[in-house]
Amino acid sequence: MNSQSIEAIANAMVADGKGILAIDESSPTIKKRFDSIGADCTEENRRAYRELLIAGDGINEYISGMILYDETIRQKASDGTPFPELLASRGIMPGIKVDGGAKDLSGHAGEKVTEGLDGLRDRLAEYRKLGAPFAKWRAVITIGDNMPSRGCISANCHALARYASLCQEAGIVPMVEPEVLLDGNHSIERCYEVSEATLRALFAALYDQRVVLEATILKASMVLTGNKCAQRAGVEEVAERTLRCLKNSVPAALPGIVFLSGGQTPVEATAHLNAMNSAAGTLPWKLSFSYSRALQEPALKAWNGDSANGDAAQAALRHRAQLNSAASQGRYKESMEKAA
Ligand code: 13P
Repeated sequence: MNSQSIEAIANAMVADGKGILAIDESSPTIKKRFDSIGADCTEENRRAYRELLIAGDGINEYISGMILYDETIRQKASDGTPFPELLASRGIMPGIKVDGGAKDLSGHAGEKVTEGLDGLRDRLAEYRKLGAPFAKWRAVITIGDNMPSRGCISANCHALARYASLCQEAGIVPMVEPEVLLDGNHSIERCYEVSEATLRALFAALYDQRVVLEATILKASMVLTGNKCAQRAGVEEVAERTLRCLKNSVPAALPGIVFLSGGQTPVEATAHLNAMNSAAGTLPWKLSFSYSRALQEPALKAWNGDSANGDAAQAALRHRAQLNSAASQGRYKESMEKAA
């Protein structure tokens, strides 16, 4: 595939008023989510829950793509339609998480490196055939005493860049996700420093690996105070520092940046996105969302493991997606929360 057509995919991912829904939780992670509502984590329950998220009426007005897990991209809706086909028929792109998870980084106690490059070329070719026009790879950067190390940032950025280059070779848009974790008692200033250093290293690595930025999407964490810090920064400060960090480190050629929610509440994640999009001045890239927890939390609670609650779960997801769509255009207001 030529770079022009993957550029078109990347632009469509961040079309006006649209964002991404991440439903790519690995089996251990979805088990934790199901445990929180007392639902059994069987393959059929995972399939049924994901069918609810995929098939809700009107969700395609706000969602351009959904990120699937390997198990999910191979599953079918109750009427036998493969999930990627069902999504495509509704105008939603079926993306795929392709990393092999964050593993302990040797020589760097407490830090992780994401694995999964071995055999990736063949896996990407298969996912392309299964209908995936974009893929995701998540690296995690931990803030702590003497962390992150240079070795951790460079190993993760190198892997992200190798993955991104392989994606583009396969005609797939890479979504590159270097998540600076919220865990810790660090200040927002420290989060800014680490986020900026990580993004600068990432774009240097993407350049080294000849990744076409016009056909790449960044999935970024916001610049936030650590979740164990007593003094948390407010919405305006988070928006101001996140924008400053991105402007200082992300090239203008990139079509869009989508945020992960990373442990923020659904309302916080929406308010932060809205504040950035309503800030004065034009931005070189679209700023939208690629949330898992901040979109799914109300839907998961409404579903509660019971198929009788399917409509309520879909309504909860649609409402949250609508609010984030408004936030991606700077048009969200807190009063809209009540209209669920
Ligand atoms: P959260 O929005 O729950 O942080 O998940 C983001 C993510 O990376 C899943 O793809």
